[in-house]
Amino acid sequence: MATVKAVRGTRDLLPPETELWNRIEATARQVFARYHFGEIRTPIFEDTGLFARSVGEETDIVSKEMYTWDDPPKPKGAIAYPPSMILGGRGVQSLTLRPENTAGVVRAYIEHKLGESGQLQKLYYIGPQFRRERPQKGRYRQFWQIGAEVIGPPSAGSESPLRDAEVLEMLATLLDELGIMGWTLELNSVGSAADRERYNDVLRAALAEVAPKMCADCQRRAVTNPLRVLDCKVPEDQPIIDALPKITDSFDQESKDHFAAVTAALDAAGVAYKLNPRLVRGLDYYTRTTFEFTHGGLGAQNALLGGGRYDGLSEAIGGPKAPGIGFAMGLDRLVLTLQATKADQKSAVRPALDAYIAPLGETLNAAALVLARELRRAGLSIELGDGSFRLKKSFEAADKVARRIVILGEDELRSGILTVKDFSSGVQSKVPRAELASFLAQ
Ligand code: HAM
Repeated sequence: MATVKAVRGTRDLLPPETELWNRIEATARQVFARYHFGEIRTPIFEDTGLFARSVGEETDIVSKEMYTWDDPPKPKGAIAYPPSMILGGRGVQSLTLRPENTAGVVRAYIEHKLGESGQLQKLYYIGPQFRRERPQKGRYRQFWQIGAEVIGPPSAGSESPLRDAEVLEMLATLLDELGIMGWTLELNSVGSAADRERYNDVLRAALAEVAPKMCADCQRRAVTNPLRVLDCKVPEDQPIIDALPKITDSFDQESKDHFAAVTAALDAAGVAYKLNPRLVRGLDYYTRTTFEFTHGGLGAQNALLGGGRYDGLSEAIGGPKAPGIGFAMGLDRLVLTLQATKADQKSAVRPALDAYIAPLGETLNAAALVLARELRRAGLSIELGDGSFRLKKSFEAADKVARRIVILGEDELRSGILTVKDFSSGVQSKVPRAELASFLAQ
């Protein structure tokens, strides 16, 4: 029989590693609460058109990495849907597993008219995303993101550079509280849509001369999407790219002022950053501030998180004017980074349970379940053994997972006095059942 295996690029997360995942999520939720964010949960699949219109038709994500299917499927062998299926009122739809969550959050913002409250919406999410990328360390086809979006009508202050600075300051705090050391905040601005159009023209003109000396990808991008040239990693192309005109030189005064206010607020808050004029990011919806937090321990996939401002996204998908800024961090990459530090390998070890209950004989199994129920209800962590085990096997099993073993035999059941052995001190005690919970809690 062929062995069953998880699909390429996907994986199982098992205990005790999942404890670290939960700890990261719990810390993130605490930090979000302190900054007045509430949780949003959106579906893991959406209409394909949503991603085409938000992330952008020409991006790698939309053009080659999405898991997309027709719903309902076309009849076997058919190239097109028969008119009866389209016109019958049932509707056929192209659906896609979400490659990211910003599009879904903005779709929900529009659908539920969240802007009508006049308030800034501060929403966070934790969940899986799907991209058909070539799997490697830190890059998976199903991966997890912890992300957040701050979005609202301009009257709520959604365009303010203070929002950008607050999000970045929160991220610096979150990474510190998670115990992630040595991160770098790389910061840039891609300007307004008009700035970008101007820059695209400048770049296209500059590239017309140098592109023939560059890699095949760059030659193609120089024509289709010149901004993407700045993402090129081919070593020979780097000096050419560094000499290209900078995006900031195409900004109008408003964009310049906005970015200057973001950096001034970060300086005041003491959040260190590195300006990276080439940070244009791989999604089309960005305007103005863009950023990534990188970490040297991650190798080629060095981005712990990425994000930026998207002032035109809501309108691009049919909503009201609703500027916003957000980010998403790769949970898989946070875990990898923390596992690489010794302190966290230790804390990932399963903490010992309060007690292991060993019934002496199968006739005592039900009584042991009752005792376990009592103790667990009192808030203790308990593993329940089995009366079919020999005492030696129970002790070995208990020693692996718990701080103490509680022996439940006929005598103990009758007298109500239980035998407890503490593994670290080796001391054996007789404890009345009524006092057992408080004894084990020490
Ligand atoms: P992104 O840069 O595509 O941005 O992804 C954000 C983060 O998700 C990356 O920095 C990385 O840590 C993680 N990530 C992405 N792809 C993978 C993968 N294949 N395997 C493991 N981790 C991965 C976005 O998704 C935007 N929605 C962020 C955003 C929110 N911008 C504004 N609001």
